[in-house]
Amino acid sequence: MLAAALDMFSKGGWAYLSRWGHVLVGITWIGLLYYFNFVQVPSFAEMDAAARNNAIDKLASRALWWFRWAALATVVTGLMILYFQEQLDDMDYFKSLPGISIATGILLALTMFANVWGVIWRNQKVVIANARNVAAGGEPDPNAAALGRKALMASRQNAIFSLPMLIFMVGTSHFPYDQLFTTGSKRAIYWIITIVIWGVLEAGALGAFGTKAGGFNVIYDDHKNALIAGFVLAVVWVGVFSFVLAR
Ligand code: HEM
Repeated sequence: MLAAALDMFSKGGWAYLSRWGHVLVGITWIGLLYYFNFVQVPSFAEMDAAARNNAIDKLASRALWWFRWAALATVVTGLMILYFQEQLDDMDYFKSLPGISIATGILLALTMFANVWGVIWRNQKVVIANARNVAAGGEPDPNAAALGRKALMASRQNAIFSLPMLIFMVGTSHFPYDQLFTTGSKRAIYWIITIVIWGVLEAGALGAFGTKAGGFNVIYDDHKNALIAGFVLAVVWVGVFSFVLAR
């Protein structure tokens, strides 16, 4: 009985505990991402400036605290699973379908993490400082709106990436493929397509095609477009995975 309980502190036990903690902080991060995209942004757009500044000061600043630290905790616990689980002892892991699936999920999740700390939080800090300053009777910062737009585009891109990201995270252990390995040329084709899709979308989120509405940026025009883009992307990506690798 005691020995069984102590198994929780074996390598497999730590892998399990990391997995549990990972899903816990992962849902906290992505739940807040969806709150920002689907609830806060549309609500703030309908508020008058004074009410919005008050909400940015009291509500958005708190939500952003949980959001960015949950993002960090998700990366740390995710890397812990990788460290503790047995698969990594086998160097062929990243040539297997589960290894390629988790590598794709991690590529998307690390990009989302970089967007959280490097784009969303960096620009939102200015937006929050401006809201507090204006509420205290100070002059508005003329750059705040443009910086807010940059944060919004990265946030909508994260919502888009979140759909395929979760497919590959969960698919790693649960895709219904019997086959474990695939050929080197199939892997090369898969990674070329993956890097192109990922690169074009992330470049767009960072403003490579401008920050104005329309054109490529139609996917960032509102949260419904971002949601549709996310679902389409998830279907396309899992299709590429299935048809290129799993045959
Ligand atoms: C860079 C960040 C991340 C890393 C390094 C990472 C790493 C991992 C690893 C190694 C696994 C185990 C895969 C397996 O063998 O089954 C996993 C599973 C999972 N991850 Fe992540 N992950 C990251 C981000 C995220 C995010 C943002 C979420 C959002 C909710 C998430 C949710 C999940 C879920 C639900 C599972 C499946 C658990 C299961 O099937 O038992 N991960 N992740």
